[in-house]
Amino acid sequence: MGEEMAFPEQRLRRTRRTAGLRGLVRETELSPGDFIYPIFVAAGEDVRNEIPSMPGILQLSINHAVKEAQRAHALGTPGVLLFGIPEDKDEAATGAYDPEGVVQLATRAIKDAVPELLVVTDVCLCEYMSHGHCGVVDKERGEVLNDVSLELLARTAVSHAEAGADLVAPSDMMDGRVAAIRSELDREGYENTPIMAYAAKYASAFYGPFREAAESTPQFGDRRNYQIDPANAREALREVGLDAEEGADIVIVKPALPYLDVVRRVREQTDLPVAAYNVSGEFSMIKAAAEKGWLDERGAVLEALTGVKRAGAEIIISYHAPDVARWLSE
Ligand code: PBG
Repeated sequence: MGEEMAFPEQRLRRTRRTAGLRGLVRETELSPGDFIYPIFVAAGEDVRNEIPSMPGILQLSINHAVKEAQRAHALGTPGVLLFGIPEDKDEAATGAYDPEGVVQLATRAIKDAVPELLVVTDVCLCEYMSHGHCGVVDKERGEVLNDVSLELLARTAVSHAEAGADLVAPSDMMDGRVAAIRSELDREGYENTPIMAYAAKYASAFYGPFREAAESTPQFGDRRNYQIDPANAREALREVGLDAEEGADIVIVKPALPYLDVVRRVREQTDLPVAAYNVSGEFSMIKAAAEKGWLDERGAVLEALTGVKRAGAEIIISYHAPDVARWLSE
């Protein structure tokens, strides 16, 4: 007995040392099929604007977005998430629900070119608002008006479904938006379109590069009135519970890496599929360090994203998706 138990750690080391066994005892395996790849679709023709803080990610006009979607599909990425950068912004976010808006047109073009690729659309107003907030603003009070915003968000979701979006992903964090979007989709005959809700969206510094990419930095104030305080995890669980009750089909935790405990707790709380959004700043950190030769990009990305999956996410939204698919198939 005493002798058998003397060096128990050696049993673990034996499984690590036997090369062919490592794969068999591996608990978490990333696959290209776990990923959704975000694409920034810009108005205009033949646009390929580099985003300085996100090396390798570009604002693409529809023709180039279609090519990028085809490339991701060919590598085995099952879905893309579309963000729009409209020509004009205003205080009613008209571009968000315009049937001929940039996301609506891009959705149609991508579904035409690659019908098997899932098209997920970001449902938010910030990219279309001149002030950059995610809802309608009462200028006198400098406040985002929750209920007025819901109508516009629901209209936006319906216009995406009409264009052929397979899933809609509300990212605004207004209260009650999942219920509002669900009832409007149902009323318009899109009862089979799932909602992938950004249920736990934190007020994060890691969205900085995205705001540059989407040109959606708030012109005044910040988003702390509607996004979650990074210090709170129970509050995120409440958000997830509410979104689930309101009819969300998939819940998102965002960002991913600083919130792996939240990913794990959400995974344990809900039976819904859980997605984690590996956001722009998480992407840029590794890219910048790799450019300086401070980190090995491939190793760091695969390790970080394996951690996200190990924490409990079955879907990972990441700008690294095509690279990961390539690395995993090499
Ligand atoms: C809001 C939205 C944001 C992101 C996705 N949707 C930014 C924000 O709240 O400012 C960030 C994604 C990223 O950083 O990659 N519509």
